[in-house]
Amino acid sequence: MEKLSEVIPIVYEGGELSLLDQRVLPFQETWIKCHDARETAQAIKDMVVRGAPAIGVTAAYGACMEIAKSVGRGQGVEGAKAGIEVLLSSRPTAYNLFYAVNRVLSASRAAAEAGRDPALAAELEAKRIDEENKQAAIDMGKVGASLINDGDVVMTICNTGALAVGYLGTALGVIKTAWREGKKIHVVALETRPWLQGSRLTVYELQKEGIPFTLIVDGASAIAIQRKGVRSVFVGADRIVEDGSTANKIGTFSLSVISKYFGIPFYVVAPLSTVQLGAKEIKVEERSPDEVTYIRGVPISTAGSNVYNPVFDVTPPENITAIITEKGIAWPPYEKSLKSLKSA
Ligand code: MRU
Repeated sequence: MEKLSEVIPIVYEGGELSLLDQRVLPFQETWIKCHDARETAQAIKDMVVRGAPAIGVTAAYGACMEIAKSVGRGQGVEGAKAGIEVLLSSRPTAYNLFYAVNRVLSASRAAAEAGRDPALAAELEAKRIDEENKQAAIDMGKVGASLINDGDVVMTICNTGALAVGYLGTALGVIKTAWREGKKIHVVALETRPWLQGSRLTVYELQKEGIPFTLIVDGASAIAIQRKGVRSVFVGADRIVEDGSTANKIGTFSLSVISKYFGIPFYVVAPLSTVQLGAKEIKVEERSPDEVTYIRGVPISTAGSNVYNPVFDVTPPENITAIITEKGIAWPPYEKSLKSLKSA
């Protein structure tokens, strides 16, 4: 077995889902338990678990617990629909959420039609998604690590590690893999306002792995590229559409513009379950103004400030050097390369 990241944030056992509470990391390691779709949806909405692939796996288990309960009540798969709708409305941008829940639903409906146990089929499908997700992380890591040289300084935003995926990571998974291959690298991590996924979670994972890093505020990315020898930028994705346009953590688009200005490669790393072929538009999640005006209950702005809090932005394909997936690297034009990787 390959060495996997030691942070395992999603554990499903005996019909119960345990989630490592990412709101309080790295200061506390506490777990939240979920038993149905509504509890799971609340955990996703509240950021107990976050990161598109991790949201997908969590939601798959949420859907399978809901189906099991509904089947137990004698209401079949369709009796789970209301709870599953709540799950689907928990976070609108992460495509893995829709991908995973729809797979679990289809598998359980197909089982019911064939006279098999729909609850068991839902559970097996959720576990399959979890396994595929893990394998995709390992494969993306290997594919992407080939783009990192010994001695490179690489930059990343948000947290795209095991906490965001379930295993290893996407962009951070590539960085960890390069490190495990023996490349002496240095990571520049953006703190990632307002949830501080960079300063709390990425730093936590980098420290566990022993990878040297420098933490910066988001506004320092240009000067850090200019003065700290950054060679390339690796980011994750919440949703990638047909032409390669990529929704990711707010600040990713600015980082792509800055990378282009300095002429350094800007790589997106994502499993193919994040790619929505046939889609053009991306709904960008907006969250509470309180996330901007308060930090852990302490006000940092005047009362009543007018706030715009989009938590993702969309990077256009012309700013993306390549998209790294578990099946290989997609180069522009992405309409063609993503389609052929998806069908490989
Ligand atoms: O709001 P979050 O923390 O869920 O946002 C996470 C990101 O933007 C990640 O970069 C993305 O989900 C890819 S992570 C593997």
